[in-house]
Amino acid sequence: KEKDKLVPRPPVVTVMGHVDHGKTTLLDRIRSTRVAEKEEGGITQSIGAYQVEVNGKKITFIDTPGHELFTEMRARGAQATDIVVLVVAADDGVMPQTIEAYNHAKAANVPIIVAINKIDKPNANVEKTKQELVEKLGLIPEEWGGDTIVVPISARTGQGVDELLEMILLVAEMNEIKCYPEGPARGVIIESKLDKKMGPVASVIVKDGVLRVGDAVVAANTYGKVRNLFDDRMRPIKEALPSQPVMILGFEDVPDVHSNVYAVESVEKARNIVEKRLERLESQKQTKKHVNLEELMKM
Ligand code: GTP
Ligand code: NA
Ligand code: MG
Repeated sequence: KEKDKLVPRPPVVTVMGHVDHGKTTLLDRIRSTRVAEKEEGGITQSIGAYQVEVNGKKITFIDTPGHELFTEMRARGAQATDIVVLVVAADDGVMPQTIEAYNHAKAANVPIIVAINKIDKPNANVEKTKQELVEKLGLIPEEWGGDTIVVPISARTGQGVDELLEMILLVAEMNEIKCYPEGPARGVIIESKLDKKMGPVASVIVKDGVLRVGDAVVAANTYGKVRNLFDDRMRPIKEALPSQPVMILGFEDVPDVHSNVYAVESVEKARNIVEKRLERLESQKQTKKHVNLEELMKM
């Protein structure tokens, strides 16, 4: 792959933070939806990905759960992303999963923007929350001479949300988020499951190229042919562009989350790659991690 073929793609932004600090409400506000209200017990239990357009520019958002049980999903969310928005409620401050989320973002080496949420509440304390960012995370706000962008917002009233979106676009621009638009599609699987009616289903964010209905695809543990693609509002589509969240139907088996998914020339080649990988796993008696899908792709 030649470097000069890289072109900008929309940023993928993962929203993270402690339980009930307002991540889903913020995304609802941005998308004009009401997902948070419909969640069981008001708790997000899966990763959701959505694309919005702000001033003609696309941003892909990944929503993650804040409940302490879902460490794995938060780690995954941070790994698939270009930027993390860390949501901290101004009435609650920096809490255990705020710290955990911050550590995932740091491990993934992605820029962090802090959104101090719920500033509409009478007991909101923005200054105290900033103090906690410094003391508990070592994040010093720009206005205090540091380099962390901190935006006070209210997901409920919408106050500050436009500024947050502007900051996201600014950070995206500074970080030169790019892709290879041509050549075979590559995506990252953020969620997968076996649906009773549809069979294996994978939620994917396309990272390079264009994924199309009819493409042969391979993931770490399984392969298939793309039978259907659905966008983030479950509308059927024919192709998915870089940074676009898309649901893929057509895998033989439920593909591993974490795994990349690649479009290849034929279903036969896709099957071969998976079979070779399984053979190697068997013969080398190694853990999954040591048999590299990317290496087998080149064979
Ligand atoms: P999990 O996904 O379960 O971790 O929660 P979350 O971070 O997505 O929080 P959620 O959006 O579910 O909001 C939790 C509660 O806080 C809900 O009752 C929201 O209505 C409320 N809330 C969210 N943002 C604001 C805000 O800006 N102001 C006020 N007053 N309430 C808010
Ligand atoms: Na919640
Ligand atoms: Mg939520």
